[in-house]
Amino acid sequence: MEINELLKLGVKELGKREYLDPISESIIILSYLQNVDKSYIYTHGNEEVNKEIVDKFLDFIEKRKEGWPLSYILKEKEFYGLNFYIEEGVLVPRPDTEILVEWIINKVNEEFKNEYLDIVELGTGSGCIALTLAYYLENIKVFAVDIDDKALKVAKINRDKFKLNNKVKFYKGDLFNGIKTLQLEGKVDIIVSNPPYIPTEDISKLQIEVREHEPKNALDGGESGFSYYEKIVPDSKEYLKREGILAVEIGYDQGTYVKRLFNENGFKDIYIIKDFQGLDRVVVGRVP
Ligand SMILES: C[S@@+](CC[C@H](N)C(=O)[O-])C[C@H]1O[C@@H](n2cnc3c(N)ncnc32)[C@H](O)[C@@H]1O
Repeated sequence: MEINELLKLGVKELGKREYLDPISESIIILSYLQNVDKSYIYTHGNEEVNKEIVDKFLDFIEKRKEGWPLSYILKEKEFYGLNFYIEEGVLVPRPDTEILVEWIINKVNEEFKNEYLDIVELGTGSGCIALTLAYYLENIKVFAVDIDDKALKVAKINRDKFKLNNKVKFYKGDLFNGIKTLQLEGKVDIIVSNPPYIPTEDISKLQIEVREHEPKNALDGGESGFSYYEKIVPDSKEYLKREGILAVEIGYDQGTYVKRLFNENGFKDIYIIKDFQGLDRVVVGRVP
């Protein structure tokens, strides 16, 4: 079968489901399987595709049609210019989280340029936040925690991939309990977290990719959606140095409450950072 014919088939099948982008997803899948750039697919429409790839392509298209996230099918996701290994059981890194990472990278470059920094990440998942910070920032060490074995397995695969073993250490545990033995109280420069923040009853309303395939323990923020912030914000004060920074990702409608939580816990310089759509996305604050 030729590239063009195969693509047509993919587009037709994916077109049967709402909310997909049949053309671009078919091209992404085929270019991945052929191990070529997307531009190659555009310019080689009449080239024959071998049977093995045709079968895989149709299998991937079927999975996608059933609602599997593309990143679980291809086992990869680009985040802040890095290509992360991803598999089912671990949250797919989101562009929203790039806002959080970008803010920290800029802050460190502006304010702490040549200082050595200790950073803690809570709920590391694929490791995308911890590893991206370590990749782009020179003088940092990241202590990253997750409660889930699968997440830690994937995070370690990514750490090996980006050769960041010296700068990023992973720990298993429930939030700060994961690093209890390190005696970092009062010594941490920055704490960062993208915790689960979807209110429990809203999970069933999410699109099929998320509600049926992504791990619940990466999404479920308790009845109100705020349960993790209510633990992380007060406990962070114990771990941060004076002038240390806490930065958390939030849902678009959670800014007011989380900002108040920072305030009530004595943080200063509290800001809400918006995403490209103008929605609240990150809250940051500093220990006096
Ligand atoms: C929203 S995901 C964020 C993953 C990754 N940092 C990212 O931004 O893509 C939240 C992560 O927190 C982890 N998690 C949930 N409860 C936890 C807890 N009590 N202690 C530590 N990690 C937890 C989940 O396993 C999941 O990997």
